[in-house]
Amino acid sequence: MEAKLSSLAKTLTPSSIQQLSYLAQRCNAVNLAEGFPDFPAPPHIKDAAVSAIRADFNQYSHVQGTCDYVARKMKEMHGMNVDPLTDIVICCGQSEAFAATMFSIIDQGDEVILFDPSYETYDACIRLAGGIPVYVGLDPPQWTLDSDKLEKSFTEKTKALVLNSPHNPTGKVFNKDELEIIAGACQRRDVVAVTDEVYEHITFDNQNHISLASLPGMQSRTVITSSLSKTFSVTGWRIGWAVAPTCIASAVRNIHIRMTDCAPAPFQEAALAALRSPPAYFERLRRDYESKRDCIFNLLAKVGFKMQFKPQGSFFVFAQLPESCPLSDAEFVEELIKQAGVVAVPGAGFFHSKPSADYASSRYIRFAFCKSEDTLAAASVKISRLVDASGNLKLF
Ligand SMILES: Cc1ncc(COP(=O)(O)O)c(C=O)c1O
Repeated sequence: MEAKLSSLAKTLTPSSIQQLSYLAQRCNAVNLAEGFPDFPAPPHIKDAAVSAIRADFNQYSHVQGTCDYVARKMKEMHGMNVDPLTDIVICCGQSEAFAATMFSIIDQGDEVILFDPSYETYDACIRLAGGIPVYVGLDPPQWTLDSDKLEKSFTEKTKALVLNSPHNPTGKVFNKDELEIIAGACQRRDVVAVTDEVYEHITFDNQNHISLASLPGMQSRTVITSSLSKTFSVTGWRIGWAVAPTCIASAVRNIHIRMTDCAPAPFQEAALAALRSPPAYFERLRRDYESKRDCIFNLLAKVGFKMQFKPQGSFFVFAQLPESCPLSDAEFVEELIKQAGVVAVPGAGFFHSKPSADYASSRYIRFAFCKSEDTLAAASVKISRLVDASGNLKLF
């Protein structure tokens, strides 16, 4: 039956991250690979979900209150006025919001600009919608945006640009200057911006997340996608949203209804409790993640990784293998599982364009630190056991 598969389906392979997780399970390794928390969700939102199930919120539903709270958050965080009745669509996570957005705006052959490295699912979504991904490499070690490179990537066919900030896998938070460059280019070239802001509440060192949509002239050409997944440690609840100009929001809603009908009803109810969490909840989240970042960053620096960029947001560290390490990223990860009992992700899967001469895309390893204190302590002990007399990892 393989012949019956679409040509696009034939190009999609199982996620390498998932495959590594299976190997890690077999080796009983500590999992710093996948980007989901291994600690409990906040009790106040679990209680709300349980109450919703007990109250029989079991049927297809649209909980308008969730849109009202998302609109309120847009005002609080970014000073943006968003109509909750027309401009917000609740979807099954950011993933569905992003896919439905691509189906809403992309025609066959349209080009979509993305920054490289990038989160792996955008590429397939764009191609499923008939679009052509065009990558603009961010420059290491600080993952800076080169405005000339960006400018040159636009063509007559460019329809949209995707921006993920705070960024997976590097932990970069795009600053105001960079956002102004991107906004200027989108406006000059009449391009739609699609943002992925799932890590909007996870930023460090007093750095604030700025939404591209909040820059002058951008709200009318930007689709914001985000979700509860990372902010409330509930990646399996599948509650996300798109905030968009009315006509795009209406198209996203029409596609969402035909693909999934609605997001899970009890969790839409629980989203009300999540989105009205007090400021202290978000402050605590930030503080906790900042201390987890410091713990894993310092550990990796101590055992010999080249740590030239400290994450400013998200919950990933993108660590560089030192020149002395003879292994590629994939070989390193396999040895780390077998010898230390810790699993991380080879960086090469996040790169799509040819890297410039001064760095190699196969020299990075992504570590996720959205893990409990116990998990991080266990990883630290296991990694520390693998150091040689000079204090460096034996694999180096
Ligand atoms: C950058 C980024 N966007 C989106 C997602 C998925 O979000 P959701 O669970 O809301 O679909 C992830 C999950 O790892 C991610 O890292």
